[in-house]
Amino acid sequence: MEISKVGVLGCGLMGSGIAQVAATAGFDVTVFELEQKFLDKGFAGMEKSLTKLAEKGSLAEAPGAIRARLKGTTSPQDLASCDIVIEAIIENVAEKRKIYASLDTIVKREAIFASNTSSISITELMTATRRPDRFIGLHFFNPVPLMKLVEVVRTVATAEPVYEAAYAFAQKLGKVPVRTSDKTGFIVNRLLVPYLLDAIRAYEEGVGSIEDIDNAMKLGCGYPMGPFSLLDFVGLETTYYITQVMYDEFKQSRFASPPLLKRLVMAGWYGRKTGKGFYDYSDPSHPKPNRL
Ligand code: 3HC
Repeated sequence: MEISKVGVLGCGLMGSGIAQVAATAGFDVTVFELEQKFLDKGFAGMEKSLTKLAEKGSLAEAPGAIRARLKGTTSPQDLASCDIVIEAIIENVAEKRKIYASLDTIVKREAIFASNTSSISITELMTATRRPDRFIGLHFFNPVPLMKLVEVVRTVATAEPVYEAAYAFAQKLGKVPVRTSDKTGFIVNRLLVPYLLDAIRAYEEGVGSIEDIDNAMKLGCGYPMGPFSLLDFVGLETTYYITQVMYDEFKQSRFASPPLLKRLVMAGWYGRKTGKGFYDYSDPSHPKPNRL
């Protein structure tokens, strides 16, 4: 099961990161987006990231050679000959099922379909296609060019050679794959989400300030970011969505969103991307905790 041509659906933060690491690892990559402006934005992000990595000497080739393997398209037909198609579009079941169903008739039968979803059931997505045996989860972490982990997710229907090919593919990307199965949240979010929600509850209960809770976990546990910085980094709307899916799946209070998270999302304070979340990013290099 040879993988040489990679398709990526979506050129947002995750899609462009996946495309970048695949091209860096030597694969020919075609990234699909609905509109050219989304491709332009994603490609500009890749350019910045590749330049930074080249400056640090972490690339085996010049950025130009890597860019030459990357192609953007707004035509789904351009994905027809891909060996694997990795979807990283908006976290919406209906949208994901729609794009998989339409690509199922376009992309060659032998190709593997993968989803980068962080919480939606892979099984639910796979039933939009007629290739359940060739459907897996490949969950990457933000920022994709730096984070080493990929969760490789099997369903009850995944064929063993497909799973092993996907696992080996993740290794070829220079990542460290872990094996997991289709239970909402997989390994990382199963453990990370209750921790992040507990940090919000601790703040709501007056255990400490936003800054002190962040510093406590950073300096006391050696985490690269405290929980509030990480929440703002991941995106509060993304975390809120994940809590809803996880709570719906497990019906356990540890996955339920604290009121403050919901309020911030309703207010449109999504974190770094909107300039406001638990911190204010008016001066991005010196975020200030908001009074909440
Ligand atoms: N490409 C290339 N370089 C990048 C980059 C990218 N995409 N993003 C950051 N960098 C570089 C920065 O430019 C900086 O370079 P410099 O040393 O030359 O200044 C270097 O990486 C370090 O960045 P920063 O100085 O901004 O900050 P940090 O030292 O804190 O590192 C971090 C940034 C790697 C993001 C680190 O803070 C970290 O590991 N944070 C935790 C991230 C995390 O937990 N991610 C997972 C989120 S959960 C998830 O994704 C799952 C989903 O389902 C929710």
